[in-house]
Amino acid sequence: MFFLQILVFIASSISSVSADLKENLKLAGVRSVFPGDQNYASASKAYNLRFTFSPAAVTFPTTPGQVASVVKAAHNDNYNVVPRGGGHSYVANGLGGKTGSVVVDMSSMKAMKFFITTNTAVIETGNRLGDVALALNAVGRALPHGTCAQVGIGGHTAFGGYGFTSRQWGLALDPIFAINAVLADGTIVRATKASHPDLFWSLKGAAPSFAITTSIEVNTFAAPSYATVIKYVWKDMDSTTAGKSMFSFQEFSLSGPAAPFAGELLLTRGSKNGSVTFGFVGAWYGAKGSAIPTMQPWLDKMPRPSTSELIGNGSYIDSVAHLSGTPLNTPSAPLTTDTFYAKSLMTPEKDPMTLEACTSFMEYLSTKGFSSKTDWFAQVELYGGPNSKIREFANDATSFLRRDTLFTFQLYASSSTHKPPYPEEGFSFLDGMADSVTLKMHSGWNYGAYPNYIDERLHNWQLRYFGANYRRLQSIKDKLDPHNIFMFPQSIELTKKVTSPEPTPIFVQDSDQDSFDISTT
Ligand SMILES: Cc1cc2nc3c(=O)[nH]c(=O)nc-3n(C[C@H](O)[C@H](O)[C@H](O)COP(=O)(O)OP(=O)(O)OC[C@H]3O[C@@H](n4cnc5c(N)ncnc54)[C@H](O)[C@@H]3O)c2cc1C
Ligand SMILES: *[C@@H]1O[C@H](CO)[C@@H](O)[C@H](O)[C@H]1NC(C)=O
Ligand SMILES: *[C@@H]1O[C@H](CO)[C@@H](O)[C@H](O)[C@H]1NC(C)=O
Repeated sequence: MFFLQILVFIASSISSVSADLKENLKLAGVRSVFPGDQNYASASKAYNLRFTFSPAAVTFPTTPGQVASVVKAAHNDNYNVVPRGGGHSYVANGLGGKTGSVVVDMSSMKAMKFFITTNTAVIETGNRLGDVALALNAVGRALPHGTCAQVGIGGHTAFGGYGFTSRQWGLALDPIFAINAVLADGTIVRATKASHPDLFWSLKGAAPSFAITTSIEVNTFAAPSYATVIKYVWKDMDSTTAGKSMFSFQEFSLSGPAAPFAGELLLTRGSKNGSVTFGFVGAWYGAKGSAIPTMQPWLDKMPRPSTSELIGNGSYIDSVAHLSGTPLNTPSAPLTTDTFYAKSLMTPEKDPMTLEACTSFMEYLSTKGFSSKTDWFAQVELYGGPNSKIREFANDATSFLRRDTLFTFQLYASSSTHKPPYPEEGFSFLDGMADSVTLKMHSGWNYGAYPNYIDERLHNWQLRYFGANYRRLQSIKDKLDPHNIFMFPQSIELTKKVTSPEPTPIFVQDSDQDSFDISTT
């Protein structure tokens, strides 16, 4: 009670949200939540509880026109603007990634339309992956995308979007042929390869630096007639065997398993020092009975697994449901949160890891991983190999760069309770985990990082995320957002620095709730 009174006092005494911003949002009829409002704490809560930011306003537009009004109102008053889709950014960039931004929450824009004659869909960016999968499946269609139902399609397609159908269908951003978006000056455009080629290219890999996308137009795929989830576990594997097992998985991947196959190694803590739990989670979308034969060349080199199973009833949507940690119908379950830090590595297919690097990684996981107080996992996701659709595009075909990736590593450590505070050890533990691979490779090893697993401590992020595409992104940013209003941590930088005043209200927020309310009513 006392605490709440202090909050109200701070909120009303600073009142650093400009009267113009409030007035203009009101005139435009956009529902908005401001510091001090009763639902401000829940509206400004991050998925990753390691971050607490206080936006100047959280707005809930219902039309592209309203999105444009918010952008203009914010621009007028020199606020930075950020879109929020499903709110699952690892660093709370959907809240601005810092205090004082204007948030454009897309959750009131959830329309989806399907066109039977063309098998295309128009999907508003307030939708989450589970709801998109259910709606498309109802008409026998599907898209490539990640596993977690609560992730937003807006953020996911902004930076890539990998799931186990990606080897046969591409990344989530690949089937998009048009993007409806609001630019920094409030203009509403429909970007395609033909009509706004630079913008279209930029939106496919770095979207929030250039525009707020309001809907995407996509080519859909026939839902596979058979699908199964594959799970193998080898308990307490020693680090030498685990290094060899990862290396043989790499050989198998380079040999090009059929595209209906994809999956990841899943490494977790072993039950004794020097060992690791070595798992494989994947899926098969081809003929019934062919999942295991496809994996057999690798399984032949592996020890006998502790457990192995094919999961699901054979239907595509059932496989999607099994891979998601939460129900596909997202309004039916509370939104989850975590308290974590994550890093990523993308390994070049042309310059694969040495056995020594694989073994070093496993030695690290089996010793430092054994003693870490964090709750961690490491995933080694199969992107490439011959037959993979992801690599059919050139690295400069979209601003998403690293098409020639064989594996994307996700290194992830939560606090032991999955609640704040986050232990300092988590950072050094994951830094060492990434180093255990990269330091064993030659000094010019051109590895990348995955911008959807955004890492606010990543050195050289421009190179690791965007590489040779970064210059072009900067020159397009200069043209489309010269005042840098779409600015957040690791947004594309202008070639020259701008000097605009940046308002930064100080507001302490209450982070007691487990989920934020994004409903419109
Ligand atoms: C539990 C979990 C599971 C995951 N699984 C996978 C996976 O299997 N595969 C995978 O590839 N990734 C996965 N991710 C990563 C996920 O793809 C990213 O975190 C993604 O950016 C989240 O999108 P969002 O809309 O939910 O997040 P938000 O926080 O809302 O947005 C993330 C970023 O995208 C921007 N953005 C959001 N909406 C728009 C828009 N309309 N226009 C322009 N920019 C926008 C935001 O400004 C922000 O910078 C997972 C993440 C979590 C937390
Ligand atoms: C398989 O499971 C899905 C949902 O998980 C369900 O909709 C479908 O009816 C099931 N099919 C069969 C054949 O049991
Ligand atoms: C685990 O083993 C490693 C090397 O063998 C050793 O350095 C480390 O101290 C051990 N950790 C624990 C918790 O015993």
